[in-house]
Amino acid sequence: MSGAELAEETRTLVAAGLARLADAPSSAEVRSIESELLGKRSRLTEMKAGMRDLDAEDRRVLGAALNQARTELEAAAAERLDHLAARERRAVLAAERLDLTEYQGRASTGHRHLVTQTWERLEDVFVGMGFTVATGPEVETDWFNFEALNLPPSHPARSLWDTLYLDTTDLDGVGDQQLLLRTHTSPVQVRTMLRAVREGSGPPIYVVCPGRAYRQDTADATHLPVFHQIEMLVIDRGITMGDLSGTIETFTKAYFGQELTSRLRPSYFPFTEPSAEVDISQPDGSWLEVGGCGMVHPNVLRAGGLDPEEWSGFAFGFGIERLTMIRHHVTDIRDFITNDMRFLEQF
Ligand code: PHE
Repeated sequence: MSGAELAEETRTLVAAGLARLADAPSSAEVRSIESELLGKRSRLTEMKAGMRDLDAEDRRVLGAALNQARTELEAAAAERLDHLAARERRAVLAAERLDLTEYQGRASTGHRHLVTQTWERLEDVFVGMGFTVATGPEVETDWFNFEALNLPPSHPARSLWDTLYLDTTDLDGVGDQQLLLRTHTSPVQVRTMLRAVREGSGPPIYVVCPGRAYRQDTADATHLPVFHQIEMLVIDRGITMGDLSGTIETFTKAYFGQELTSRLRPSYFPFTEPSAEVDISQPDGSWLEVGGCGMVHPNVLRAGGLDPEEWSGFAFGFGIERLTMIRHHVTDIRDFITNDMRFLEQF
């Protein structure tokens, strides 16, 4: 056959190939057509191998036709792959799409967020146990968040809390107080003691302090940079570690039910001595850490205006999200903040 006839055959092959590629239903199909048309055992490859038997002019004509054929087929295959990938992406997006207008006609009026529900239930449980509820500001001074809690400025344990400090240089009148976003609800302990002394309402003090806390932290399955804690503070005469563990166990049964139990593991916090981590048993038998606790350090009592010779007490701080995870079998804490209706609607 002449070069011209062979070139004509390549054009027939290309036309047929382009038609098949344009209809290929999947990327796998595109790849198989491509290798059938351009692979080692294809007619085009065979023609290329046969070029050595042609004379110079025929070789030139066929060579050009073969190059053209390969370029066209490869471009068509790439274009079809792009198109199919875009179609697959659209299908995934459509399947995962959340159209909030779908919620407009429904009878549901929405409800409080699961973490808010837990916050309220916790208050109910503790009020039922005889506690009152206290609050404090989320923007705190370094003194309340650290110093009054037995953490002087260069105390190494400050690094336990990755703190978000506020830049107050432009805020005339704030003075030289270092402001920060509180890293825990523990500053409310000191505020509560000072207020009780000032107003003559205590001690004894039996309060819980729920609220938001902040840490410069990367979110993962068990941590959020913005989260909630509930703090307990008890100050009375002759309070012991037994009162602390008994109160935590009573709370555990009251909030989770009789099946669950708590345990204390020795730990360290500058504001309590001795200190412990609190774990709560999970239905599957494992333990999840929910917070810290301990006997209030004498220096903290002094910062609160109380005489450690006369008063003693205990405190704990629990993560509200952590408690919610145990009670509602949530395995990733980030689910609380992604606002996926499919998650939120379950509670
Ligand atoms: N404030 C501690 C924390 O957030 C928890 C804690 C509270 C420990 C009270 C002891 C007593 O890490």
